[in-house]
Amino acid sequence: MTFEFPGQARMADVARAITEAALRPPEPPPAVLFSPLVLRGSAAGQGLTLPNRVKLAAMTTGFASAAGLPSPRLIEWYSARAAGGTGLVTVEGALVAPPHALCSRSRFNQHRLRLDGGVPAAAYRPLTDAIHGGGARAAVQLTYPGLRDTAARAPPPTAP
Ligand SMILES: Cc1cc2nc3c(=O)[nH]c(=O)nc-3n(C[C@H](O)[C@H](O)[C@H](O)COP(=O)(O)O)c2cc1C
Repeated sequence: MTFEFPGQARMADVARAITEAALRPPEPPPAVLFSPLVLRGSAAGQGLTLPNRVKLAAMTTGFASAAGLPSPRLIEWYSARAAGGTGLVTVEGALVAPPHALCSRSRFNQHRLRLDGGVPAAAYRPLTDAIHGGGARAAVQLTYPGLRDTAARAPPPTAP
């Protein structure tokens, strides 16, 4: 094969390598991914065993009720992730304090989970039961609401 400009041979090598890689059958994931993992240092001192090392990142769904509690839709969403084989389901950022009065209309604070003193822990039981029922363990991301507001508000917003 003849090449017309410098680097063309190298480009042909790269194109061949990409084609070969695309045609190669996928490699199985490393077995360790599906082996249990013990997280030490739990409150009970016994550790928490995850069935595998697949973790769902915290993702705010906007499915909490208007009062900031787990709604049937939110529970169904997490239940499906747990049943799909996730080892640790991290529930989306839950507000540890009521939103600042200046920001209560912020879209960030609408239909957000709340985990402050005004919310009974028992309200979370159906959610944790659903996650455990799917075979996963549950964690929750704690989020401080801070000063967050919406640009749609006039006059100019108090915070980004
Ligand atoms: C719809 C959506 C909501 C998210 N909500 C949160 C959240 O509540 N807390 C958080 O720390 N990250 C949140 N993230 C960021 C994700 O947890 C994750 O870090 C991000 O999607 C990057 O992941 P990747 O590197 O695997 O693509 C959110 C992401 C998306 C797409």
